[in-house]
Amino acid sequence: MTDLKIKMRGVTKIFGPRPDEVLTALRSGASKDDLQAETGHVIGLNNVDLDVAQGQLHVVMGLSGSGKSTLIRHVNRLIDPTAGSIEVNGKDVLGMDMDQLRLFRRTEIAMVFQKFGLLPHRSVIDNVGYGLEIRGVSKKQRLETAEEWIAKVGLEGYENSRPHQLSGGQQQRVGLARALAMDVDILLMDEAFSALDPLIRSGMQDELLVLQKDLNKTILFITHDFDEALKIGDQVTVLQDGAVIQSGRPEEIVLNPANEHVVEFVADVNRARAIHVHTIMETGDFGPCDYRVNASACCEDVLPLFAEHDWVGVSDENDKIIGKITAKQVIKALARHSAPV
Ligand SMILES: Nc1ncnc2c1ncn2[C@@H]1O[C@H](COP(=O)(O)OP(=O)(O)OP(=O)(O)O)[C@@H](O)[C@H]1O
Ligand SMILES: [Mg+2]
Repeated sequence: MTDLKIKMRGVTKIFGPRPDEVLTALRSGASKDDLQAETGHVIGLNNVDLDVAQGQLHVVMGLSGSGKSTLIRHVNRLIDPTAGSIEVNGKDVLGMDMDQLRLFRRTEIAMVFQKFGLLPHRSVIDNVGYGLEIRGVSKKQRLETAEEWIAKVGLEGYENSRPHQLSGGQQQRVGLARALAMDVDILLMDEAFSALDPLIRSGMQDELLVLQKDLNKTILFITHDFDEALKIGDQVTVLQDGAVIQSGRPEEIVLNPANEHVVEFVADVNRARAIHVHTIMETGDFGPCDYRVNASACCEDVLPLFAEHDWVGVSDENDKIIGKITAKQVIKALARHSAPV
């Protein structure tokens, strides 16, 4: 059984003065728009199940207002649900009293915010050490730890700068270093890279992936950019009107979008680069083959090979044949299709 770090079951959040009354109507199938028009209540989340395994980088996607921030804020209980259960690190977050909750927030979970959330009058090093200070770590030790993380995110030399003296990308690195310095297993990242220029953003994504390889954290990452989800996500969950409409590996979602809404999300994805051979190959050992490609190759890499081969073998990192791929499979994967009706 996988080790679940975050487990949500039936989590529903209704904003407004009489959520319990509206809950009955929601459960009998009324839509978010209708409930808002009829009762003035807003559906933040609707019956959300979410599993995030240890070491997973789990991306939550959805349009503005779909409930992404509401979802992530339930994980550290900045928001109490109207209904449902939430376990983090095997603990019932909703059953915690204020002291337990404070301890939980200080020691088990860290958050990186979209707008960086830095303290303007503190230096970089004091911002990075802030969480440790709250936790009561000695000055010497927190400066040492902060120094280490500042170096890891590439900000050496900026220890004494103030946030306003840094670029957006640098400020976001400070936010990331601050979260990582907490040395917790679970990171919550709410649109952490969305405010950055595309090039800087892409660099931060690379950096997160490099760090993650080493750190093996459990990360819940929010974005509304599917390309970002494809690049960094192990698993993607798509929200619409507060409800989960699809959850799967990013490539599975590109290949089999659950409804028209998801089709629109994935419409601009460069499928030839996004879809990898291992996702669409036929698995098995097909004996000797003229030509082979690595399972991590993308469709764009293999397409030219079909000018000379009917099929090519697919090998793993040890050069063992694990499957084969044909032009038909690649073309089918590249063809844009609409959702099943
Ligand atoms: N405190 C609140 N009171 C009332 N309604 C709220 C509150 N917080 C969020 N909502 C509503 O809940 C829904 C989900 O909001 P949320 O902030 O989670 O969306 P989001 O997916 O994070 O959007 P964005 O991409 O714009 O950040 C929206 O309809 C929003 O108006
Ligand atoms: Mg949000």
